[in-house]
Amino acid sequence: MKSFLLPLLIMAILIMSCGQSRDQNRSRTKNNDFKIKVDSLIKLMTLEEKVGQMVQYSGGWDLTGPKSDNNKLKKQQIEDGLVGSMLNVTSVEQVRAAQKLAIENSRLKIPMLFGYDVIHGYKTMFPLPLAEAASWDLDLMERTAKVSAKEAAAAGVNWTFAPMVDISRDARWGRIMESAGEDTYLNTVVGLAKMRGYQGDSLSDVNSIAACAKHFAAYGYVKSGKEYNTVSIGEHELHNVVLPPFKALAEAGIATFMNSFSDMDGIPATASYRLQTELLKDEWGYNGMIVSDWGSVEELSTHGVAEDFADAAKIAVNAGNDMGMESSAYAKHLVQLVEDGKVKESRINDAVSRILTLKYKLGLFEDPYKYCNEEREKNNIYTKEHLELAYEAALKSIVLLKNENKVLPISKDVKSIALIGPLANDKNSPLGNWRARAENNSAVSLYEGLKEKLPKNIDLKYHEGVDYVISGENFATPLKINTTDDSKIKEAVKIAKSQELVILAVGENAFQSGEGRSQTDIGFAGLQTRLIKAVYEANPNTIMVLMNGRPMDISWSAKNIPAIVEAWHLGSQAGYAIADVLLGKYNPSGKLPVSFPQSSGQEPFFYNHKNTGRPDVNPYDVIHSQHNDVPNEAVFPFGHGLSYTTFEYGDIQLSQNSFTKGESITAEIQITNTGDRVGEEVVQLYIRDLVGSITRPVLELKDFEKIKLQPGETKTVSFEINEETIKFYTINKKWEAEPGELKLFIASSSKSLKSKSFYFKT
Ligand code: NOJ
Repeated sequence: MKSFLLPLLIMAILIMSCGQSRDQNRSRTKNNDFKIKVDSLIKLMTLEEKVGQMVQYSGGWDLTGPKSDNNKLKKQQIEDGLVGSMLNVTSVEQVRAAQKLAIENSRLKIPMLFGYDVIHGYKTMFPLPLAEAASWDLDLMERTAKVSAKEAAAAGVNWTFAPMVDISRDARWGRIMESAGEDTYLNTVVGLAKMRGYQGDSLSDVNSIAACAKHFAAYGYVKSGKEYNTVSIGEHELHNVVLPPFKALAEAGIATFMNSFSDMDGIPATASYRLQTELLKDEWGYNGMIVSDWGSVEELSTHGVAEDFADAAKIAVNAGNDMGMESSAYAKHLVQLVEDGKVKESRINDAVSRILTLKYKLGLFEDPYKYCNEEREKNNIYTKEHLELAYEAALKSIVLLKNENKVLPISKDVKSIALIGPLANDKNSPLGNWRARAENNSAVSLYEGLKEKLPKNIDLKYHEGVDYVISGENFATPLKINTTDDSKIKEAVKIAKSQELVILAVGENAFQSGEGRSQTDIGFAGLQTRLIKAVYEANPNTIMVLMNGRPMDISWSAKNIPAIVEAWHLGSQAGYAIADVLLGKYNPSGKLPVSFPQSSGQEPFFYNHKNTGRPDVNPYDVIHSQHNDVPNEAVFPFGHGLSYTTFEYGDIQLSQNSFTKGESITAEIQITNTGDRVGEEVVQLYIRDLVGSITRPVLELKDFEKIKLQPGETKTVSFEINEETIKFYTINKKWEAEPGELKLFIASSSKSLKSKSFYFKT
């Protein structure tokens, strides 16, 4: 093309992009329209510019992976139009400055995407994803994602690396905190709610941002819960357990996918053609884009499947990965690889087309500074309204695990309370890990919450009990936990004795869970066990408040302490919410999205395991499937959570006890609030397929409904069961419903179950 014509053509396409987008009837012509624009733009691009779109660099403001490359070099690359996206650049000022480099200097003026880990809030912190999943409130989860998107978008960010929908069954794996727990169905519906919240009705909305389904796939299955480890998983388990949330998100139109660091059966996910191209793009028809994880392209050579970074780039792109995160391998080698015929230019065009389409959808071609508005940044972040939502989310995420003799809610007769424990006045841990732009130490601590909410005539005494974390409270620094100095326990015991009631706040520091935070022991770290036992001995009238990012081994406490409240890392308003639950101003309604084991050695531990050929009938039966030293059953099972009121479940009524293709049956049950307070209950539907072409789990969650009941009130809950409900990935490697007997359970947890048989006939 003659060089004088090129600038005119570029101008024409960019102007066409702006004018048309504003005036067109979006719903009718949108996708086709994007395609025409993208195709025309790609025709103008040099190979170097195309490759540039596939490069994503960290701005270095936040380091969410090992050390970044030279920032000076990156700046020049942006000016040359050779960087498609940045991550970890936040604030209007910094995003604008970075975007300007591309828009004002590069030949084609293609705007960059700005990605960030907005995992459970941007500055207003909501409960950890695992905690929030305990609310089983999908509407709430959508609303918190919407607010997170609004805050992030106001600070220049247009893409979040969330939701993580890795099924997480091993509590030793620190990233369990970022998931919705151990169950496939729960992860699927939570993932969809989160996606709806982030992406809104349209990506073109100024308050919406692109979401990302991660980590594709099976990252949660790393051996022994050890971060970045290898994964061994059979094909049936992969399809039945791990893939469904990803498939649902792909079908629902999530803008992006991220692959994974892990190696599955010898093939690192970033190198997996089977996963990225055959399954996701071809079989599922996904037309969004796939970003690698941080440096995972280069890591292919560390894994030992690529000879060098050039080979790594070749393998990753040919496998279907579209953008390399914090990866210079694409920038350095892709052009040569195409010229040498090792990567087809059509593959590059496909990747670039996916990336540019997202930029069009977000409206970045209309206005590259669309997310850079100082007014919105000033008004839309950390607002009173957002903090109110953080409070609501914290309340609803709390799970009452145990409440012997109705110790809770704290009686009005109690006049003196000891608040003890290293987490009791911790203003940092409730913010959790992956805290984006939350200000450190900005959470309301439990001590602050109680001081504000308790009647003034109550004598509240606080003591930390033990020094816990000594240093290292940061994303990537090792935590140093005190294991020797127990000098403070004595004083705490004295206070425990002096008061009528003790509240013991223990658990995990924010940075004990999250990326890179695998542990072999999921019990209480440091000197907490010593503290717990000493305090309990001094005053058995003790309530334990747990703050943590993973299910823990709390078996001693579960046996001995009369009341236990699971308060996770609940975000900005944690202390107020916990205080209101303890004082009975809010009736807890959360249910566990993960099982609590008897001991770390049982991990991975989950309710929906297989029956095996020798199921354990009585605890400690030898020559059965069990550990000899602990019972098989959970200390607190999946789905468990108490209320200050009680619920009675009636008998299950089935509309008919068999159905065939195209038909459905309805299961109904009456639930009555038999206590004296208004309360909410999560009514859960499980099924068991008794005989299958492959072994089937002993239980599988299939649906749930959260209902609110006044004292004495009865409500009927009904669930529909059809062919889709009972389909699974069968021996034929297809999703099929097999004929035969199934059992249906409706219950308040995966443990207390009423059941009915039903049949599917072909
Ligand atoms: C690595 C993590 O695995 C991924 O989830 C995250 O989005 C990126 N780093 C970016 O911080």
